[in-house]
Amino acid sequence: MAQVATPAKAASKPKTNFQDKEKPTEVRLSNIIAAKAVGDAIRTSLGPRGMDKMIQTSSGEVVITNDGATILKHMAVLHPAAKMLVDLSAAQDVEAGDGTTSVVVLCSSLLSAAEKMLGKGIHPTTIAESFQRAAQKSVEFLTEMATPVDLADRESLLRAASTSLNSKIVSQYSSLLAPIAVDAVLRVVDPTVTNNVNLNDVRVVKKVGGTIDDTELVDGLVLNQNVVKSAGGPTRVEKAKIGLIQFQLSAPKPDMENQIIVNDYRQMDKILKEERQYLLNMCKKIKKSGCNVLLIQKSILRDAVNELSLHFLAKLKIMVVKDVERDEIEFIAKSLGCKPVADVESFTEDKLGYADLIEETDSAGARVVKVTGMKNAGKTVSVLCRGANSLVLEESHRSLHDALCVVRCLVKKKYLIAGGGAPEIEVSQKLMDYAKTLQGMEQYCFQAFAEALEVIPTTLAENAGLNPISIVTELRNKHARGDKTAGINVKKGTISNILEENVIQPLLVSTSALELSAETVKMILKIDDLVRNRENGH
Ligand SMILES: Nc1ncnc2c1ncn2[C@@H]1O[C@H](COP(=O)(O)OP(=O)(O)OP(=O)(O)O)[C@@H](O)[C@H]1O
Ligand SMILES: [Mg+2]
Repeated sequence: MAQVATPAKAASKPKTNFQDKEKPTEVRLSNIIAAKAVGDAIRTSLGPRGMDKMIQTSSGEVVITNDGATILKHMAVLHPAAKMLVDLSAAQDVEAGDGTTSVVVLCSSLLSAAEKMLGKGIHPTTIAESFQRAAQKSVEFLTEMATPVDLADRESLLRAASTSLNSKIVSQYSSLLAPIAVDAVLRVVDPTVTNNVNLNDVRVVKKVGGTIDDTELVDGLVLNQNVVKSAGGPTRVEKAKIGLIQFQLSAPKPDMENQIIVNDYRQMDKILKEERQYLLNMCKKIKKSGCNVLLIQKSILRDAVNELSLHFLAKLKIMVVKDVERDEIEFIAKSLGCKPVADVESFTEDKLGYADLIEETDSAGARVVKVTGMKNAGKTVSVLCRGANSLVLEESHRSLHDALCVVRCLVKKKYLIAGGGAPEIEVSQKLMDYAKTLQGMEQYCFQAFAEALEVIPTTLAENAGLNPISIVTELRNKHARGDKTAGINVKKGTISNILEENVIQPLLVSTSALELSAETVKMILKIDDLVRNRENGH
């Protein structure tokens, strides 16, 4: 009866009716569908047996990766709600660095749950707010389950870093990359700031050539640039006094485009002599300060160095590295303990940095400049990342970044939890129990949230080629019997104590994923209209 009545009613309604009751629901559902599509696209990449994506950018470049944030960043997502999931992944990347796939999969599952709740007629605001409270409660449960870790406990840090590397293309090198990540972060930890570490102090230099096995942690500085050899200057300097300059060693240019016509040979000679004298004076001034290595910032106004100045510098036995980028200056200055100099007049000895050795070496097909033995060593470290081709190299860099972030998470919040779907199942069950103490709609919403958390173990099992239903049911049983660390052993295809498999992850990765995804769900649910701005006539 009602079914017949509704369309007839709708047809009789004039279209110009101010309040269109259907529209908010339609907009909400279309947003949910669009966002879920993003989650579905990325789902297969979760976990150690997850698949990788090959992405071709508009410029024809190819990227192969397993990293959620990278996949989404390269995806041409058009729908605004779908874009929110891309931003969610980026937010997780900033906050935790790892878990960028999980966060999107989780959010998409929460949206499915919300869709069902909406179907039952529950108000979107109630759902959104209950989900946020449920996320808060889950974070509490997770924190209760977590085990504290000490930064001196290198083994645990290594295990956590290896777990994050497990799911990457470069996973077979995790025994090499994990210690590099742990040592790099531990070296730059500032003892005065106890709950954070600045990953900008860890520099990863990528050089194609060799294999990932050649990746190394350098206790010093590795430069992206090579030594200038055209003028025959030194390529190895011991007891280096390093100057970092931001001015140019070439003839000055007028501010405006000017032309000078010289039609007299004597005049021409004079100009050339002047230039020679000008450059020689600058080079001599540099030498006078005791400097024997010169790093020169790239210049867009005019040549940073020219043939003549290089010749003078080579004669004065000063090693030259040019094309230092503007944004590298700060890092180099911090590493070497030198001060960038913007004017030759202020180039004095106190601005120089000291290092025992700077040399250009040939390692596995690439020339690399390394600076070691700095006076104030330990403020920064460099990692020299190697790979046979740029695809492997880039992915290795991204994986190393994830591992570095995992260690940073442990500095920020010194707690570890088990992985392999164990925490999600445990929290899900605790939430279910907790939901029983609630009433009304909130209870429904908490239950739906708890069920939605199971997406992580389900997906892990699916991607590993296991039967998700039987695995998740068994997992639930084990946890119900109090086996809190039972997780999916992806390698053996069974359920076992996941701690024995050394699969552990930082608490912060999971808590931030929960909080951020609940926040995004709330944002999506609260949208009831999509208004396009057609100002430009498009
Ligand atoms: N050996 C393992 N056995 C079982 N589960 C594992 C194992 N290693 C990792 N996991 C699980 O895999 C999930 C992480 O997968 P993955 O690293 O692919 O995604 P992510 O961390 O969410 O995103 P990304 O690394 O792309 O930022 C976590 O839930 C983790 O517990
Ligand atoms: Mg990961």
